[in-house]
Amino acid sequence: MKRVAILGSGNGSNFEAIVQNLKNDDIKFLCISNIQDAFILKRAKRLGVKEHYVPFDETYDFLAKQKFDLFVLAGYMRILPSEVLKLGTFINIHPSLLPKYKGKEAIKRAFEDKEEYTGVTIHYVTDELDSGPIIEQERIVIPPSITLEELTNTVHSIEHKLYSKVIKDLIYN
Ligand code: GRF
Repeated sequence: MKRVAILGSGNGSNFEAIVQNLKNDDIKFLCISNIQDAFILKRAKRLGVKEHYVPFDETYDFLAKQKFDLFVLAGYMRILPSEVLKLGTFINIHPSLLPKYKGKEAIKRAFEDKEEYTGVTIHYVTDELDSGPIIEQERIVIPPSITLEELTNTVHSIEHKLYSKVIKDLIYN
């Protein structure tokens, strides 16, 4: 059995997609949030995944006590220090074609700039924002007539498929 820790601060839709997509694989998930009332923790309870509120400053002590095959950031809104990143392999998902549109509101900024394309990037985590080596990217055309809401939904539905595929590749290869 593989052990995967998923860390998030908010909604948790990627977390839920990963757990659903990989439910037939022999993987034990643990859900961790630095925000006590984050919706991701409620989703974990509903899905029967063990969940913990771990304040940011306690992250190292919490994670160092256990063994994980992979650490997955899914909307985790803090930069983890290198001490924590040394505990294993950390990956992150970002809703743009990095290195473009690092940081917040990436979909909205690409839309407002009238970019022809945007996309989804999965990358290794370093202690710099949205900057580690890229593992996988998927490009999305932005048709001139699309609304921001439609584009946002398209980006998220790609995230929800791509992240599980990459996680599976990384833990079994
Ligand atoms: C996703 O768009 C992800 O790319 C970014 O934060 C968002 C998290 O959404 N890092 P959710 O919490 O998984 O719904």
